[in-house]
Amino acid sequence: MTDTLLPTIDAVATQVHAHVSRLSSEMMVAAAEEAVFDVLASVLFGGSFSVRRHEGIVFSLDLDALKREVIQSASIDVLSAVCERYLAHFRTHDRHWLGAFYTPAPLARFLVHSVDALLHSIGIDGIADPDVRVIDPACGSGNLLAEAASFAPSGGVSAEKFHGVERISCASHVCNLRMRALCSGCDAAASACCRTGNAMESLALPNVSGPLAILCGPPFNQYSTDVLAEGTGAAAVYRRYVAPCIERGLDANAQTDAYIKFTALCHDLLVRSGSGVIGLIVRHAWLASHAHAGMRIAMMQDFDEMFVVDLHGDPHDRFHHHRRDENVYRDMVYDVGVCVLFLVRRQGKGCREIKHFDLFGDRAEKWDWLRNHTPNSIPWNTLTPAEPWCAYA
Ligand SMILES: C[S@@+](CC[C@H](N)C(=O)[O-])C[C@H]1O[C@@H](n2cnc3c(N)ncnc32)[C@H](O)[C@@H]1O
Repeated sequence: MTDTLLPTIDAVATQVHAHVSRLSSEMMVAAAEEAVFDVLASVLFGGSFSVRRHEGIVFSLDLDALKREVIQSASIDVLSAVCERYLAHFRTHDRHWLGAFYTPAPLARFLVHSVDALLHSIGIDGIADPDVRVIDPACGSGNLLAEAASFAPSGGVSAEKFHGVERISCASHVCNLRMRALCSGCDAAASACCRTGNAMESLALPNVSGPLAILCGPPFNQYSTDVLAEGTGAAAVYRRYVAPCIERGLDANAQTDAYIKFTALCHDLLVRSGSGVIGLIVRHAWLASHAHAGMRIAMMQDFDEMFVVDLHGDPHDRFHHHRRDENVYRDMVYDVGVCVLFLVRRQGKGCREIKHFDLFGDRAEKWDWLRNHTPNSIPWNTLTPAEPWCAYA
């Protein structure tokens, strides 16, 4: 990491000093930070950011401190923030079409720590277990994989431990930079764990056996035209999701959303590998809608335990019992409520009950709750989904 990134940051410093006047005023710190992100992005991705618009502004950001922070702790997410900025400037269409909005840190932490706790609950030694493989099929700049890397044993990890796929090349580049920073002592291949590609294509995901930790914050796009490769297990799972909808004459268009195809991908991966846990962020409306009954039924057939934390935050429903309810995503990048779903597979005997928990509140309250809970400390309600729709709410 140090070798790769130091010249980058130094180049940034030189560029910033060349372009931005170096007066001092606290009021302009925010604007100066923006300039730094622009320049960092242009250095990392070769974009043609114009720093000219920042000329004449006051520049008081301490680049040495930034350099130290990036090197000492990738958890400050500087690289990820730079990546998001780059996408927002130059790839606006891709960003919306591919759902390149990254998981807030408290949610990423909760998802990964919960998957770790649930692996322990089925007798596996968590994410750190040398046999466990960690897969994120829509890994973006690596927020979930980076969180999982904090569980990697200090002696280093095997090249086969982490696997990510990401459609946008600059995001997968940043993911690999972050993993290299976090997995000190790992062999070289582990820091190139993310491949640029389309996860829906047949050989995009590794064919791994043994226990899996599947982490997924999929894109939400109801107009997604991506198609799961024919002949794959994921395509077969997807057909099971859609079949009851078609049989009952319901609108099958509700099933084209990208997150449903990613759910089928994760579902198939875990069934094929045998055992492990999926932590997945999905739309909250999915929990009870008739159109998605096929998904809920297929999951109850293939997984031994299921946990749902409904994070709500629907923008059309801003108050719950007169209390403000906000989305956990900043700036309402997703205009839908969301929930986190955990699917646990030991023997694949199926389950009849769902552990469910509702979380309402403003964003700060929800983030605080997410930082302080794992499945072991949540006061779950037990639901028994009733035929024919098997709602999980
Ligand atoms: C909601 S973001 C989540 C990223 C990351 N896992 C996180 O939690 O911050 C979804 C990511 O999936 C990527 N993506 C969308 N469609 C994809 C596809 N077919 N194959 C691989 N990646 C895809 C997007 O570019 C985006 O970075």
